[in-house]
Amino acid sequence: MDIFEAFKKRYSHKDGFLPDAVPLADLERIAQAGLDAPSGRNRQTVRLIILPNRAAIEPVCAVSPTIGLETTPAAIAVLTDKTLTPENEFNFEKEDYSAATENMLLAATALGYSSLWLDSPYFDREKEKQARAVLSVPEAYRLWAVLPIGKPNGEGSRREKLPFEERVYYQYFLSNPR
Ligand SMILES: Cc1cc2nc3c(=O)[nH]c(=O)nc-3n(C[C@H](O)[C@H](O)[C@H](O)COP(=O)(O)O)c2cc1C
Repeated sequence: MDIFEAFKKRYSHKDGFLPDAVPLADLERIAQAGLDAPSGRNRQTVRLIILPNRAAIEPVCAVSPTIGLETTPAAIAVLTDKTLTPENEFNFEKEDYSAATENMLLAATALGYSSLWLDSPYFDREKEKQARAVLSVPEAYRLWAVLPIGKPNGEGSRREKLPFEERVYYQYFLSNPR
């Protein structure tokens, strides 16, 4: 799929998934797309955990049951290594994980899967700690998101984007009369 088609086809799948397994080769391609993303100062802080089946997902889902994780046949957990940023230097972990995540959402779309940027369960640092614990992730890493990946069990709800003209300006910013 052309990358511009993937931009248009990507959407946040907030409904259920079919139980069909996702081949490991596809999950690895999606993970590689994440690792191909840029990173601040090329620190490459992102680490990924492929969760290839329900047995691997269940303990994470149990920490914070959400619609995205309850039926997905596969997922990828997105982490950063906190130790790679020297003290008193600008921390790019949030940007790094975001760039990697968007690449993975697009790669999943290009391979015919649906996915979701699911980070809200881990805003709660206690839940983040519990999710890390079930994945055996040490304290030196931060868990930012878990991306469900699978075939959707239906069309999935879509959200409208505002028109181009409302968000893009040429040369100067112009206030939109509303
Ligand atoms: C940084 C970020 C965090 C998000 N976190 C969540 C989340 O935790 N749960 C969720 O259901 N959707 C989450 N989303 C998905 C947004 O709700 C979704 O992108 C938005 O509604 C636009 O819909 P679209 O992705 O289908 O274009 C997140 C998206 C972004 C960019």
